[in-house]
Amino acid sequence: MKLSNLHDLYLHKLADLYSAEKQILEALPKMIDKASNRELTKALSDHLEQTRTQAERLDRINSSRQFDTAMKCKGIHGIIAEGSETIMEIKDTATRDAQIITAAQSVEHYEIAGYGSAKAFADELGFDEDADLLEQTLKEEGEADKLLSKIALGTLFKDGLNEKAQ
Ligand SMILES: [Fe+2]
Repeated sequence: MKLSNLHDLYLHKLADLYSAEKQILEALPKMIDKASNRELTKALSDHLEQTRTQAERLDRINSSRQFDTAMKCKGIHGIIAEGSETIMEIKDTATRDAQIITAAQSVEHYEIAGYGSAKAFADELGFDEDADLLEQTLKEEGEADKLLSKIALGTLFKDGLNEKAQ
């Protein structure tokens, strides 16, 4: 795809995010399956539901913008591949939960950056309805990220993951 202007770049970003959400929809059930901490399992399950809504929002935007829905986001592919590889290697459940959290947060941060840019482009291009939808997702990704930090610091580490390791 030739990127000549901000509009092209916007469509490219949307295609990237759409592919990211699809890949996350595939990866999350596997992460939920490997998680042990109850709060973490719930947070990931809730986020799976939320991810479906986020993909639907992009579908709605696609009905007016027609971006490439077949493009593959290599960035999220790499982040998910690296995270899952390590998750599979860890036997200790609390340590594995810590890895699941860090892998999930890497995904969230990628999405926060992507949605932040997409929303800014939509604003600049005067696509107010798109900007609203992108803003909603951006907010949810930020909240999901904060919740993961809270689980790591509040539950996982308080339960003595660090002490156990010493
Ligand atoms: Fe998402």
